[in-house]
Amino acid sequence: MSVHSPSLATPLASTVASLRRAGCVFAEDEAALLHEAARSPKELALLVERRAAGLPLEHVLGWAEFYGRRFSVDTGVFVPRRRTEFLVRQAAALAPARAVVADLCCGSGALGVALATALDAAELHACDVEPAAVRCARRNVGDLGQVYEGDLFAPLPAALRGRVDVLLANVPYVPTDDVELLPAEARVHEPRVALDGGGDGLDVMRRVAAAAPHWLAPGGSLLVEASERQCDSAVGILRAAGLSPRVLVSEEWYATVVVGTAGRAAPAPAPARPAATAAPD
Ligand SMILES: C[S@@+](CC[C@H](N)C(=O)[O-])C[C@H]1O[C@@H](n2cnc3c(N)ncnc32)[C@H](O)[C@@H]1O
Repeated sequence: MSVHSPSLATPLASTVASLRRAGCVFAEDEAALLHEAARSPKELALLVERRAAGLPLEHVLGWAEFYGRRFSVDTGVFVPRRRTEFLVRQAAALAPARAVVADLCCGSGALGVALATALDAAELHACDVEPAAVRCARRNVGDLGQVYEGDLFAPLPAALRGRVDVLLANVPYVPTDDVELLPAEARVHEPRVALDGGGDGLDVMRRVAAAAPHWLAPGGSLLVEASERQCDSAVGILRAAGLSPRVLVSEEWYATVVVGTAGRAAPAPAPARPAATAAPD
């Protein structure tokens, strides 16, 4: 028996049974992935134990599937949700050629990478406040762009002001009181800063929207995800920031995205300097 064939040592059915006992709804699919990932029977046992203890499957495997590819996701880093592919699709549809993309609150960096790859040769800047997310995003982004650590726009290079065509911001948007209601996989294993959006869930969105017009290129767009319940408030927030909002809903993905687009007019020119007065003779 090869040490690389743990499935021969532990029948798939036995893994399925263990996962099912632990409450995994997709036990068959998960068991197949764990068998594929394990390089030895010992490692398989460890992976099954971690999953049965409630660690998200993506953290057990070390990757998450998003937009047709696998992204590295470390423990303690937000797992990109499949529904957020809808946001990326909408961004790809409105991006100009050679777009400059910024991915705020980037987590693993999956959104920015997926969009930059779909657009081909886009300029990509991503940032997050969590060091673990930044480390993970740096691996995923590779030489496709730059990843910065810090609060929202603060770490971005000043030269990016007024140049961002697409600003992705899948900010935390769970209202504080609802965090306790999330499934344990999120509540226990994802960092609170990735989930908790304040009283109504929109505190981080407000801060992003307020600053976005300074960073967007003329005609550039900010895209945020929200719950259905938050949709009207999110529209108000983007409008108050001077952006033209519209709502995109996908029943297929169970996702709501609010897009705020900056005006096409070039920013008002700085006031002309008064003509130099001739010095009296
Ligand atoms: C909902 S997760 C989304 C992650 C990623 N965009 C995705 O969709 O997979 C929100 C992310 O925002 C980051 N975050 C929260 N507050 C932040 C802030 N003030 N500045 C930068 N990042 C922040 C968290 O660390 C977390 O990675």
